[in-house]
Amino acid sequence: MTLKGRSFLTLKDYSKDEILYLIDLAAELKAKKKGGAVTSRVAGKLLEGKNIVLLFDKTSTRTRCSFEVACYDEGAHVTYLTNSQMGKKESLEDTAKVLGRLYDGIEYRGFAHSIVEDLAAFSGVPVWNGLTDDDHPTQVLADFLTAREHLGKPLSEMKLAYIGDGRNNVANALMIGAAKVGMDYAVASPSSLLPSPSLVAECKAWADENGSAITITTDPKEAVKDADIIYTDIWCSMGEEDKMAERIGLLKPYQVTMELLRSTGKKTLFEHCLPSFHDLNTTTAQAVKEKFGLSEMEVTDEVFRSPSSVVFDEAENRMHTIKAVMVATLSDTLG
Ligand code: CP
Ligand code: NVA
Repeated sequence: MTLKGRSFLTLKDYSKDEILYLIDLAAELKAKKKGGAVTSRVAGKLLEGKNIVLLFDKTSTRTRCSFEVACYDEGAHVTYLTNSQMGKKESLEDTAKVLGRLYDGIEYRGFAHSIVEDLAAFSGVPVWNGLTDDDHPTQVLADFLTAREHLGKPLSEMKLAYIGDGRNNVANALMIGAAKVGMDYAVASPSSLLPSPSLVAECKAWADENGSAITITTDPKEAVKDADIIYTDIWCSMGEEDKMAERIGLLKPYQVTMELLRSTGKKTLFEHCLPSFHDLNTTTAQAVKEKFGLSEMEVTDEVFRSPSSVVFDEAENRMHTIKAVMVATLSDTLG
């Protein structure tokens, strides 16, 4: 299989086999980094001589650092750009053409999903989506690798239940990814925060092909029945900070608690893309506590710190999976 020259904008564009190939490649790259057996296809520096630009219009810890460390590990050079002219003093099209002349690959994190699509259309080099308002595909590769490591069974034999804001970028990406790999997916959200009917219809068609089920409900208890993984994300995504009062009102009953985690009646992992408001150790959480009297938001501190929680493995796996995406789409030497 070769994915060389492809952009990575959404898992919609990738087949089941291609997604599994990226996750397998990430596992091999992880073993290589940790001093394990190095398969011939990942031997050597796989991105030597490549120049990569990371464009960030939103804040980031994991994604930015994962791209940078992955580049350093595999011998690429990297530019981090937060204050470009793009869209302000220069059109997106012109900026994309310039970056395509200078760089071998472009990562973009920001707002409208159309920006990554246009960057890919105009730059002529692979573009990787580091999060848009609608999608977060590199996150899902890390979440699926982590689930496979902990549950030791194929993704197609798992069920993931997403509880909370079911129409945000992470939830959308998880539903697409689950449908593509044949994983059962259930989402529980208040009716105003359920995924869009058109995305659900697209995903149901893939899920039918791959023998999995998609359940849409407003009832968290129904969603988590038989779940191998319970997943949540923050209640107000970047750019939605002014919606806090409304979201707290809607989503408080969707907080992931020990009671919900235990109600599956089986071994269930807790996953979260991070960052998370599980305690009061951030200025945002402090402000919410002062205004709304809430000490924990989308997940309780008890669940976050419980043995079921694999959130820091997910965070580490962001780097291994992002490395796999760059290597697969760019490397001249990948065997
Ligand atoms: N999960 C994730 O994308 O984290 P950052 O916002 O820190 O990049
Ligand atoms: N839904 C969150 C994910 C952060 C990684 C956001 O967009 O802010």
